[in-house]
Amino acid sequence: SQPNVYVTRPDVDDSGLELLRKSCNVSTWSQPLPVPRDELLRQVKGKDALYCALTDKIDAAVLDAAGTQLKCVATISVGFEHIDVEECKKRGIRVGYTPDVLTDATAELTLALLLATNRRLFEASKQVYNGGWKSWAPMWMCGQGLKNSRVGLYGFGRIGQEIAARIVPFKPAQITYTTRTARPAEAAKVNARRVDFDEMLCLSDFIVVCCSLTPDTKEVFNASAFEKMKPNCIFINTARGGNVDQNALYDALHSKRILAAGLDVTTPEPLPLDDPLLKLDNIVILPHIGSADIETRKEMSRITARNILAALNGCQMEAEVM
Ligand code: GLV
Ligand code: GLV
Repeated sequence: SQPNVYVTRPDVDDSGLELLRKSCNVSTWSQPLPVPRDELLRQVKGKDALYCALTDKIDAAVLDAAGTQLKCVATISVGFEHIDVEECKKRGIRVGYTPDVLTDATAELTLALLLATNRRLFEASKQVYNGGWKSWAPMWMCGQGLKNSRVGLYGFGRIGQEIAARIVPFKPAQITYTTRTARPAEAAKVNARRVDFDEMLCLSDFIVVCCSLTPDTKEVFNASAFEKMKPNCIFINTARGGNVDQNALYDALHSKRILAAGLDVTTPEPLPLDDPLLKLDNIVILPHIGSADIETRKEMSRITARNILAALNGCQMEAEVM
């Protein structure tokens, strides 16, 4: 009989589901919001593969509920901190994800946030609608350009390198990066210099978080980190909300300890409407749309499906968490 695959969303691009339907029984959660935990625990039982998203927590309890038939968990995301990979390994369950395909889209969105914050796009646009725009004025709505600025990247993996490549044409004074891995060849391509965390915090006009979320990177941007930043610093995060102590970020923005922030990720997601961050005017917040480019999301759906098919056939996956 055909393998059974459970898909935690009804709304992934159908081209991926079509690939699965050729050789598998595919069932999907039917609602637009993430599958409730108890429903996931029920549905995963007896499945051979689980097609999930970053909104699903895949832990030992889910794997236990699945039973011994489960061979693969594939997420339609590059981040996989929502999956307990160690527990999967223990059970011989392979884990697939979607790196590479979303690198350009995410780098592009990061540049959009850099430009939106430094040139105050949303704040300025509001003035057009609320009557704040009285006349052209020489020093009104001015920001600091990327030109001649120092940009610090926290993380210099696939996405960080593409962000750097897109910043170069804006003629920064210096791009620096902080990572565990040196990556000198990649750094040379964009003339970036590796610095330690404190140096990046103290010298940067822009700080961009583009690392994965691990125990080492959890809340590295805390009160002491914001304390070291320059008062004109603009803080951008397109990685994970968990990389930041959000209360400390709020304090830094509210007290004007730093100039502004641009976030595509928050804790939690969605951000409650009464969250204090929403009352600040020196912040731009987007609803986690880093990879939300149509062709990118379609290909992410197909890669997730192909990862599952490969695992079910005992073949090499296109992208497997090792
Ligand atoms: C999005 O945040 C992803 O991990 O793909
Ligand atoms: C992480 O992004 C790294 O480059 O080590």
